[in-house]
Amino acid sequence: MHRSRILGIGMNVASRVVTNDDLAKMMETSHEWIHERTGIEQRRWVAPGETGASMATKAAKEAIERAGIAPTDIDLIIYATLSPDFNFPGTAVFVQRNLGLKEIPCLDIRQQCTGFIYGLSIADAYIRTGNFKNILLIGSEVHSTGLDKTTAGRDVTVLFGDGAGAVIIGRATDDQHMILSTHIHADGSEAEILWTEYPASAHDPRISEAAMAERKHYPSMNGKKVFKHAVTRMPQAIMEGMQANGIKSIAEVDMVIPHQANLRINQMVAQMIGVPPEKTHNNIMKYGNTTAASIPICMHEAIELGKIKPGNLVCLVAFGAGLTWGSCFLRY
Ligand code: UT7
Repeated sequence: MHRSRILGIGMNVASRVVTNDDLAKMMETSHEWIHERTGIEQRRWVAPGETGASMATKAAKEAIERAGIAPTDIDLIIYATLSPDFNFPGTAVFVQRNLGLKEIPCLDIRQQCTGFIYGLSIADAYIRTGNFKNILLIGSEVHSTGLDKTTAGRDVTVLFGDGAGAVIIGRATDDQHMILSTHIHADGSEAEILWTEYPASAHDPRISEAAMAERKHYPSMNGKKVFKHAVTRMPQAIMEGMQANGIKSIAEVDMVIPHQANLRINQMVAQMIGVPPEKTHNNIMKYGNTTAASIPICMHEAIELGKIKPGNLVCLVAFGAGLTWGSCFLRY
């Protein structure tokens, strides 16, 4: 059986910088409210012509270059998003086309903020079985075109940003650079506490003026409930991974990269499991919550800053809509 590793990583964020003060011109909010509750100072929104696929392609090209492989070495694309460019087909085929690749399978997955961890678990399983050798895994999101930019949507709209992250997952050749474990979970019992209900095939017609008048085509969230679940599930997912890998103390872990949903959530989780500030990295201040893209974007930055070095024991952890959650432990 083969084992898998991250061979290369890339990122690309949307080009328009939108500050909290910019949002305050569109709706009743303030830099102070947003910053105090979430840590966010600015986020990126797409400019005309930028799409999930275009950002993903740029992130993928960087990941391919860093992996030292040719695009044609890729034999599977996995694309995690809650905001596909079109209803169908999935967005992975557009990235395939942009990269000039032909006939390799393209797999689109959802799983919202946990999409990247789910993607890692799929890629790892495919490498282990030998089905594929070099997998391009992407998390890419465009939120800005689907947000309610009036005061009615301010609780959700201030949180999200647009961007993409990508990794090449290939075969490990030693145990110093290897994905050690992935653990993924879901609980649909409260699926509606964070969702976008319209347009949807569950409704006929899929969208109506009445639904739009009630603003049901915008995401809605029970923020307090989501916050409570996040600070419960993320520590659980970390402990589960530690146990599976025989890691007795969090002190053995070099770096924890949490999904970037809210700085306060991440600070609380770090405190609960005893992670000191120097052993975790957050960049939600600059990018907001980019859901499936947030972990590879954050990891990319931590690598650039020298906070993650080759061979380091790294924990990735996420929680999101669904509800979904999970963790991945790896030696970078
Ligand atoms: O990956 C998962 C993604 N989602 C999350 O992780 C979200 C988790 N939840 C949170 O981060 C927090 O619940 C929020 C930051 C979203 C909200 O913080 P909160 O302390 O739970 O605030 P709240 O929703 O209870 O609202 C408090 C007040 C309300 O006003 P009233 O009713 O007290 O008069 C809101 O209307 O703040 C108001 N409010 C705002 N005010 C200014 C809500 N959004 C805003 C806003 N600007 N953007």
